[in-house]
Amino acid sequence: MANQFDALLQENRSFPPSDDFRKQANVSDPDIYQKAAADREGYWAGWAKELDWEKPWDKVLEWEPPYAKWYVGGTLNASYNCLDRHLEERGDKTAIIWEGEPGEVRKFTYRQLHREVSKFANVLKSVGVVAGDRVAIYMPLIVEAAVAMLACARIGAVHSVVFGGFSAEALRDRIQDAQAKVLITATSGYRRGALVPLKKTADAAVAECPSIEKVIVAMRRSATEEADETVSMTDGRDLWYHDLMQSASDDCPPTWVDSEHMLFTLYTSGTTGKPKGIVHTTGGFLTVAYATCKWVFDLKPNDVYWCTADIGWVTGHSYVVYGPLANGATVVLYEGAPDWPKKDRFWELIEKHKVTIFYTAPTAIRAFMKWGEQLPQSRDLSSLRLLGSVGEPINPEAWIWYHKYIGNERCPIVDTWWQTETGGIMITPLPGITATKPGSATLPFPGIDAQILDEKGNAIEVGGGYLAITSPWPSMLRGIWGDPERYQQQYWSKWPGIYFTGDGAKRDEDGYFWLLGRVDDVMNVAGHRIGTMEVESALVDHQLVAEAACVGISHEIKGTAIAAFVIVKEAGRELATNDPAKFEQELKNHVAEKIGAIAKPEKILITADLPKTRSGKIMRRLLRDIAEGRALGDVTTLADPTVVASLKEKYEEEA
Ligand code: PRX
Repeated sequence: MANQFDALLQENRSFPPSDDFRKQANVSDPDIYQKAAADREGYWAGWAKELDWEKPWDKVLEWEPPYAKWYVGGTLNASYNCLDRHLEERGDKTAIIWEGEPGEVRKFTYRQLHREVSKFANVLKSVGVVAGDRVAIYMPLIVEAAVAMLACARIGAVHSVVFGGFSAEALRDRIQDAQAKVLITATSGYRRGALVPLKKTADAAVAECPSIEKVIVAMRRSATEEADETVSMTDGRDLWYHDLMQSASDDCPPTWVDSEHMLFTLYTSGTTGKPKGIVHTTGGFLTVAYATCKWVFDLKPNDVYWCTADIGWVTGHSYVVYGPLANGATVVLYEGAPDWPKKDRFWELIEKHKVTIFYTAPTAIRAFMKWGEQLPQSRDLSSLRLLGSVGEPINPEAWIWYHKYIGNERCPIVDTWWQTETGGIMITPLPGITATKPGSATLPFPGIDAQILDEKGNAIEVGGGYLAITSPWPSMLRGIWGDPERYQQQYWSKWPGIYFTGDGAKRDEDGYFWLLGRVDDVMNVAGHRIGTMEVESALVDHQLVAEAACVGISHEIKGTAIAAFVIVKEAGRELATNDPAKFEQELKNHVAEKIGAIAKPEKILITADLPKTRSGKIMRRLLRDIAEGRALGDVTTLADPTVVASLKEKYEEEA
């Protein structure tokens, strides 16, 4: 497949914006980078002024590393900025076009969405939620999920969205950590034609969550309006979303909150076994979500904008809900899988809803490549004017394919680098200014100080090193929920006062950034962050597993997949030897049960020993070499070099 692109790639071509695009872009002044850098605070104050504040701030930034406060003393409300402020001028504009996997379509104008959110905010109040309370949201991609988030924001409650693909245990851990008072869920959601039983999973989680007082359940009806009645409701605890909404008033003035009031927490994987609750606050987060949406996606009043992320991830927070709605855009939400009922569902959606801006992940693009260009070619994609990529490095082949077959060699591609912690896009082309290069996220967004540093913190102008952000930015995480030490240690201890991203990157002669992936024990599997320790803990939790080590290995579609090396307990040896396939499947299922299907190892290798240093540290580098069939690197620090040789032999045999 790569061959057809060789010529293009070898030219090392860059793709400058077309004259048309440059002329009409929201930002086309190349000096914007210098201007923003010369007065960073003034620049970010300018952006915040485009939001509506109840009371303006007294001071733009207070920076006491590693703690930042932005727009100090200002008060605002995020849901007001996403809804109320649009009502006068575009109350009848479509805010959300939702399509369920079975094909039903629901549309909400800004006025209707405002009404839903106001009502549900009153519902939350009626069950005792007050400002500062944590509310967990475990839902499929239905409109009620976005309503729930905005309703929390409306009354100053803190939402903690948990991806609907996570297991009961993963949900339980996140609810317990956040001490959430209320859980909002749904009976189920559609995935590849089947109902995913979310309420059932939620029940299992909540059984061990004493902090939860009420569970609010949205009914997922099918395209034919049939209700999913497979769920059981617990008296006194569980309430139907539709019942509560029926009697709720639609008058709910927003609760004005301090700029630094917590808007949400979102759990993400790190280098330890336990996911961490990343904390974001209102003023700074919303400012960057708004600003980046406007410039990176070049949002215009007539755009139909579709970001395919689930609201369970940060991309769904910043670029499905807050960013586009703060801009008054029309947002497409699609509940289901890209290959259901056929592999051209995304292209069908673009054709049907006349999507103009499309933002997805490289893993999806690689799957589309595999399915063939005939599928997009048989649909009318002429409405598209801009494409985006996020979540993992995009390989140049996938970039070119995206450019050629989806963008018809006409649409600029914005490859956007950022993280749950950064709250918004940090490195990205600006489509009216930046000449793009396939595989490079190009340059830091104006006002963002990203640099490549060496171990000591010296800046590397051209070459590779660690990606760091050297000045505070408004949407930076404000901490890890309940764990200030880890916040300090994880992000700020490598170089004092400088944010360490955990990513490696290099810079070319033009100053362009090329992301190289994680340098810590976090894997990026199909664009999802998973800690090696998390998967290892899940494996060791299995009664027949004594020890486990995981590494990320290259995968054609997912970018990275998980390979697990497992030492089996005596009691499991027989099963592991006699029916290794069954044993492997059992372990995979166990991981899915503990974390979720996204964390299932691709490959499990049973081994008698693991390569360790003399101090007992597992040498993952060697495991990666073995799993990817490479020559082994330096083995002199190993306690027992024979372990790795026999392991390599065994792995090669099985492969
Ligand atoms: O390794 C980087 C990768 O995804 C990580 C952040 O994951 P998460 O917090 O789940 O947020 C994903 C959505 C923003 C980063 O540390 N990553 C994200 N975007 C890119 C990327 N790697 C390369 N290129 C990107 N555009």
